[in-house]
Amino acid sequence: MEISALEKEIMEADLSTQEAQQRFKQRFLKRGGVLDELLAQLRFLTPEERKVRGSSINRLRELALQRLEAVASSHSSAEGATLGDPTFPSLVIQPGGRHPLSMVEDRIIRIFQRMGYNLADGPEIEDDWHNFTALNFEPDHPARDMQDTFFIDPAAGILLRTHTSTVQVRVMERQSPPIRILAPGRVYRNETISARAHVYFHQIEGLYVDEGVSAADLKATLGYFIRSFFSPHTKTRWRASYFPFTEMSAEVDIECLICAGEGCSVCKHTGWVEVLGCGMVDPQVLRACGIDPERFSGFAFGLGVERLTQLLFGIPDLRLFGQNDIRFLQSFRRYGCFT
Ligand code: PHE
Repeated sequence: MEISALEKEIMEADLSTQEAQQRFKQRFLKRGGVLDELLAQLRFLTPEERKVRGSSINRLRELALQRLEAVASSHSSAEGATLGDPTFPSLVIQPGGRHPLSMVEDRIIRIFQRMGYNLADGPEIEDDWHNFTALNFEPDHPARDMQDTFFIDPAAGILLRTHTSTVQVRVMERQSPPIRILAPGRVYRNETISARAHVYFHQIEGLYVDEGVSAADLKATLGYFIRSFFSPHTKTRWRASYFPFTEMSAEVDIECLICAGEGCSVCKHTGWVEVLGCGMVDPQVLRACGIDPERFSGFAFGLGVERLTQLLFGIPDLRLFGQNDIRFLQSFRRYGCFT
């Protein structure tokens, strides 16, 4: 039989059923099949003819094997489909949504990125130096207390960071100004879990250090942020405050969005809610991180992602963020990617 006719037959054979495949094997690959017979006839040929014909027959065997392999692999991948009932309603695939905290974090980051801030990252397990000492916390400052801080190794001062100011220290240690960074991340505090407090939450801290950075820059930057994040009409109130690592420290409140300043449980009937802490970086902190405070100055700020998310969406209880309750999470699907 002609080699080319056999090749055509191999390529076009129907291998859709087990029986057809069995017949195919029988005809081409088994002992006594056509290829076997052709090989047997080689002995009647001259050595040269034998060589040519022999390799053609081998090629046909290869082709036949390849075709069988191809059906075998396509069958194994389609196995689930062929076993299933094609008239059965298909699975409803629920695309996952973004967690509200991620949406809000992205929104915050984007606003500061427009002002030239870059992202910086650092470890959640920290040492005393980066979490406290470099930031000017006195040795007996209450925040160092076991009541507030989760210590991993108290003797060695290894702990879970209580704020992402640690990242500011790390960046200042390795980079010289101008520095303009945003440090988002999870932080830990040993609090009793309630509607208003949790043992972990998310912060975004910012740091800007350069020559001639002033409190006016701080005020303009955070004012722009608040107007972009909430609305151009959001009213703010600046209050003097205290942080060990800033000198001139302030907290910023916005008029309560839930009651429009009338007074409600969210704003504890004051009409105002705190949204961030900030201040001019204490020269002592710059020096501890290897930056000359005679030449450079800077500001820093820290905001709580949970707090801003609560205000924006009117979420009464902080614990909802960590419970993975599908009804809560699904209620944010309509916002899409939001930012
Ligand atoms: N690190 C402070 C906190 O966790 C927030 C803050 C950052 C305040 C930067 C001022 C400046 O409470």
